[in-house]
Amino acid sequence: MSSSTAKPVFDFTGKVILITGSSSGIGAACARKFAQAGGKVVITGYETDDVISVVAEIEQITGVKPFSKAGNLLEEGFIESLIEGTIKAYGQIDVLVNNAGWISAEDSFESEAFIEQYDKIMGLNLRSALKLMYACKEHLGATKGAIVNTASVCGLNPLEKPIYCASKAALIMATQCAALQLGKLGIRANCVSPGPIATPIGRYVGQPEMMLFDDGRCPETELTILKRNGRPEEVASVVLFLACNEASGYVTGVNYVVDGGYMCH
Ligand SMILES: NC(=O)c1ccc[n+]([C@@H]2O[C@H](COP(=O)([O-])OP(=O)(O)OC[C@H]3O[C@@H](n4cnc5c(N)ncnc54)[C@H](O)[C@@H]3O)[C@@H](O)[C@H]2O)c1
Repeated sequence: MSSSTAKPVFDFTGKVILITGSSSGIGAACARKFAQAGGKVVITGYETDDVISVVAEIEQITGVKPFSKAGNLLEEGFIESLIEGTIKAYGQIDVLVNNAGWISAEDSFESEAFIEQYDKIMGLNLRSALKLMYACKEHLGATKGAIVNTASVCGLNPLEKPIYCASKAALIMATQCAALQLGKLGIRANCVSPGPIATPIGRYVGQPEMMLFDDGRCPETELTILKRNGRPEEVASVVLFLACNEASGYVTGVNYVVDGGYMCH
């Protein structure tokens, strides 16, 4: 059964879901699944053409054009205008998925441009997620909502990408702290940590085909028990579970690994 015809397991009818990085890969799969489950999604991402094409897909699923905003989460004022636009379009926020992420070929002790990568990688992978949690807390408190952050197995197990791995390890801890503090407002906060997933993320390191296929183009694929890359939809299913109060209402502060067994090696 294709992802566009799969029967939804969870019900998000009337719920508003803001997903960063929903113009591609895991975030776009989340947007499709939330929309199939009745949710009103916000489509946002850096590349305008990708945003336009996911908006068209969602409109096909729901019959309604979703609110969207292309742009750079690192740009001053973008997060504020994203939230303002979401509230103007939908009136509330029930679920925040901090999923946008970036990797860099220069994130290496062997690169002369190493430390220049810090602000961009940490800025997107950690700071923007923290800022969105902070800026959405009243809206999420009002709906007794949920946060799901996309971390990575790289936050648990080192790769030769020190800044990326550090950003994801910090995001896991920040999510647990958010669970602790925002839990007082009735907000649950959890992480998913994917292993190798077939998405276009390799374009950021000049290898656009690196991870596009199930059969993999990266050494991590061989370290999975299932001997394949995961599909974006296989991460999205877990995101929906963690976002759904009926399914996971007593789950908060966890880091849910979705890695085909990679962490078992
Ligand atoms: N693909 C994997 O193997 C894998 C594994 C573990 C974790 N992850 C994480 O999953 C998340 C999604 O990655 P993906 O694999 O779907 O990659 P992707 O490249 O398909 O998607 C990345 C998304 O982030 C957005 N983005 C990038 N820079 C941005 C910026 N400056 N401002 C706003 N948006 C920006 C892109 O527009 C895109 O929508 C990331 O956080 C990534 O670190 C991916």
